[in-house]
Amino acid sequence: MSRPGRAFHYDRVQRGFHWLMAALIVVALALGIYAAWQVPGTSPRREILDIHKSIGLTVLLLLPLRFVYRLVAGEPAYRAPPSRHAHIAATLAHLTLYALMLLLPVSGYVYSAAGGYGLPWFGVFSFPRLVPVDKALSQAGYGAHYWIAWGLGIVLGLHVLAVAWHAWIRRDEVMGRMWPARGDASV
Ligand code: HEM
Ligand code: HEM
Repeated sequence: MSRPGRAFHYDRVQRGFHWLMAALIVVALALGIYAAWQVPGTSPRREILDIHKSIGLTVLLLLPLRFVYRLVAGEPAYRAPPSRHAHIAATLAHLTLYALMLLLPVSGYVYSAAGGYGLPWFGVFSFPRLVPVDKALSQAGYGAHYWIAWGLGIVLGLHVLAVAWHAWIRRDEVMGRMWPARGDASV
């Protein structure tokens, strides 16, 4: 139930995490697909992959901060609460996105680390190699990375379609929870 004075949208920190990480993930997806089409070992595939890994590992570092903040801050109230089923479906979809946001960079890390490849962060430093160099492990990491990337692409597509449906067809408050109208974003 909504209480007077209670926010009906995610707070600034949660919105910041959501939109920053959405941008990083969309760019990482595009760069990963582009790199996959290039011949291994050639330029600009190497440079693109260095940026891809740096962005992906940034997502991995931000995720626990976002998740813990989300657990502490909770979710905003609804002006018009959805049905129980709709709320459960949305929560499951969001949990799936959180899981994929973890598994995708972890599998990319295993693929690169076990393959003996670099783990750069924008040329500033390199991440430690926490797994042994092992061809079979690297191949497994690649297989997982490939299929988890497909999974994320599909669930993300559904997420964006669901939001578009709320925004343009039902014209309800869902989009405003993550993108409040001007003047509404007090926190
Ligand atoms: C690019 C277009 C995107 C739009 C328009 C969008 C929009 C939204 C909106 C409106 C919500 C609030 C939904 C609600 O309160 O029920 C939301 C939540 C969420 N979105 Fe997105 N989103 C986008 C991209 C992404 C991406 C790329 C990811 C990550 C892969 C993502 C992950 C999430 C998660 C995990 C939540 C739940 C937040 C929470 O409760 O902690 N979104 N999104
Ligand atoms: C948000 C995080 C990430 C996303 C969305 C993502 C997405 C993708 C996608 C879509 C591909 C193309 C897959 C294919 O068609 O073969 C790809 C390839 C790749 N990713 Fe990622 N990735 C992420 C994180 C990482 C990380 C953290 C690393 C390593 C540290 C990494 C290493 C690679 C490599 C090396 C390839 C090239 C595969 C190949 O063609 O051999 N990725 N990634």
